[in-house]
Amino acid sequence: MKSSTRFTLLAIIAQPFVAATLRAEDKVDFEKTILPIFEEKCMSCHRAEYKTPEGRTKKPKGELRMDDAKLFMEGGESGDTVVAGKPEKSKLVELIELDAEHDDVMPPKDGPLPKEDIAAIKKWIEEGASFGNWTATKFDAEGKKVAE
Ligand code: HEC
Repeated sequence: MKSSTRFTLLAIIAQPFVAATLRAEDKVDFEKTILPIFEEKCMSCHRAEYKTPEGRTKKPKGELRMDDAKLFMEGGESGDTVVAGKPEKSKLVELIELDAEHDDVMPPKDGPLPKEDIAAIKKWIEEGASFGNWTATKFDAEGKKVAE
């Protein structure tokens, strides 16, 4: 069998498995893949100050805002939240990679994130942590996401 044929066959066989995970050659699309994770798992604690339905004021934890691209890149109180191109230097990666038992794991309650989410976030940072067209996710006074 010619090696190119063998490669094609392998690609066809591997396709269903590869499709479910990340393909190395595809860049991570922030709005499609990463933003939903951040909105669902992080922004309840890392966004502009808001009041809960019970009337409690919630301030962004660790002084980190993840609901606004510019503020996100400015980072939280410890700094180096996301270092573009360098997941290994990014505090965010350090915290999402901690074990479930660790006090500092993010998100704190239902962390860690699924492995594919962690891999996608690391890949996104490695590729330069671009937000694409996203600038901010807006919430109303009660903290509900406002549709664009
Ligand atoms: C239930 C609330 C809550 C959720 C949800 C949450 N965090 Fe946090 N986060 C915190 C708290 C509290 C701190 C501050 C911890 C401290 O200062 O010791 C923090 C701190 C951080 C920091 C460090 C900020 C700094 O500079 O010190 C990062 C990075 C972070 N969180 C990322 C995330 C990510 C990513 C997610 C989602 C996957 C997430 N967090 C979800 C509560 C939360």
